[in-house]
Amino acid sequence: MKNRVEVERVLEQAIRNSEAYKDVGKLADYIPELANVEPDNFGIALVDVDGEIIVKGDDEIVFSIQSISKVIDLIMALEDVGREEVFSKVGMEPTEYKFNSIRPISDKAANPLINAGAISTCSLIRGSSTQEKFDRVIEKIGSLSNSEDVRFLEHIFLSEMETTDINRSISYYLKSIGIIDNDAEEVLELYVRNCSIGLNVKQLAHIAAVLANGGRSLDGKEQLVDKEVVKITLALMAACGMYEESGQYLVEVGFPSKSGVGGAIIGIVPGKCGICTYSPRLDRSGNSVRGLKVLEEISKTLNLNIFI
Ligand code: DON
Repeated sequence: MKNRVEVERVLEQAIRNSEAYKDVGKLADYIPELANVEPDNFGIALVDVDGEIIVKGDDEIVFSIQSISKVIDLIMALEDVGREEVFSKVGMEPTEYKFNSIRPISDKAANPLINAGAISTCSLIRGSSTQEKFDRVIEKIGSLSNSEDVRFLEHIFLSEMETTDINRSISYYLKSIGIIDNDAEEVLELYVRNCSIGLNVKQLAHIAAVLANGGRSLDGKEQLVDKEVVKITLALMAACGMYEESGQYLVEVGFPSKSGVGGAIIGIVPGKCGICTYSPRLDRSGNSVRGLKVLEEISKTLNLNIFI
């Protein structure tokens, strides 16, 4: 990183400015355990494509990645069964609907980054049992985050499984229209397990940096994700990653991103860096309020918008 001191200063300033939004937004209490997280926690990590890292705030806190797992579900489905089969089951279009809507499903979900789409991609992940599939997901996240400490937050998983009537309905509906071939309950379990994976901002920013690096490990030694898979994933993150705020977000922030109701957002600046913010108070679309503000400011100040 050529200008480390300057980048640090910009992050610090963006964090200070975002303090005005500290109390804005609401925890994702529709998953009971998520109502128990500390609402004021805030952390950010930026990892450049050479592996240099800057962290500020609560960088050790482990939170559930929630919908950020949809990026991994998509990558693994593309790697396991290929582009043609994936997009016979799920579309590539953004949606005006909420992330847990069952409305966009007529013959298939609008895209892989809403719940119906991610449940579809989860059904394509290979393995002889849910445990084996989940072990592969954990292994993939370990390699992308360059870390062996990938946790499974069982209390979050159990809490969501008890209350996830909408996702259960979506899963059974997808089964009934022939999108899911395997058991609807098992696919639901894998989807919710993946959402309950626990990481910190450094680990997620490292995953984002690998995607920013065209899928290559940051030491340049290994192609961890095929380039074509990265291209598809980033395009869909740009178009659909922030749900019904995706268009405005792309105008204001201007790089592929994905949010989770756990409070994290990952952003990918191709060829430059990966960023992860964590702040659990959410807006109406399920995106972190403070995370959005910080990303908007650092994108503008560091000229990270990919369109200009
Ligand atoms: O399926 C759900 O509702 C959650 N496990 C994930 C939703 C989510 O993270 C939406 N993102 N902002």
